Amino acid sequence: MFSFFKKKSQTKVEKEPLQKEDFEDIEELITYFKKETGIDFFNKKEIIKNKLIIFCRKKDIFSFNLLFEKILKDRVLKQELIDYLTVNETYFFRETPQIKQMIEKAKKLGYKVEILCAPSSSGEEPYTIAMMLLEAGFKQSDFHILGIDISEKIISRALEARYNERSLHRVSLELKERYFMKDGEFFILRDVVKDRVSFRCVNIFDESLHNLRKFDFIFSRNMMIYFDQETKIKAKNILQRLLKRPEETIYFGHADMVS
Ligand SMILES: C[S@@+](CC[C@H](N)C(=O)[O-])C[C@H]1O[C@@H](n2cnc3c(N)ncnc32)[C@H](O)[C@@H]1O
Repeated sequence: MFSFFKKKSQTKVEKEPLQKEDFEDIEELITYFKKETGIDFFNKKEIIKNKLIIFCRKKDIFSFNLLFEKILKDRVLKQELIDYLTVNETYFFRETPQIKQMIEKAKKLGYKVEILCAPSSSGEEPYTIAMMLLEAGFKQSDFHILGIDISEKIISRALEARYNERSLHRVSLELKERYFMKDGEFFILRDVVKDRVSFRCVNIFDESLHNLRKFDFIFSRNMMIYFDQETKIKAKNILQRLLKRPEETIYFGHADMVS
């Protein structure tokens, strides 16, 4: 006999989750994240818990323990999680006095200047440094900048070099016209700047960092703000080893407070 009601209730049963969700035990996950990236979420547990629940549900992962197991085995998922949890806030012409100071020192070097921007986020900072060097009279062949960041997604945005008005709110009309092409509501960076900056997805705590060449100047702004004191010192020592001249100062952000 045809039974409409029976069918409906069967469908309902099928939709129920097969596994009961368990999003309580977050310790192991944030301990691992801190060990891998330096980023300390211990004092933001509740915020991060809610973000992680959203991430897990999108991936059909029903517990933090299962997520932890999976990221140990799945490099792509681990990278997706890093991309999701890192804070990439940046904009052009942020904290320029340090860049001006570096340029004055660079003028005295008299050879091609190598600069590291770690972290670069989506490129606004290294591209600002390049623009300011060009504005100060440096030729394209006088300098090169490497931008590194742990987030693969953000590095692909840096390579694309396509920005919205918000990223450019500190850029003068004159510089906008000189260094960008308009594409609808977006601004595309011109090659004269873009060509002087390269990017790599690197975690500053990875061994591979030591394969990089040495640099005249290093900018490391607004990353250590997310590290605890011990990790800040560790990161500072790592970056120090990448300087050509050990006595050169590393440019940190004002909120980073690295002693
Ligand atoms: C707030 S942004 C700062 C960008 C730029 N330096 C500025 O001041 O505008 C911080 C960046 O640090 C990156 N980051 C965090 N931990 C990192 C690590 N261990 N290695 C490399 N990059 C990291 C994040 O992905 C993020 O893009």
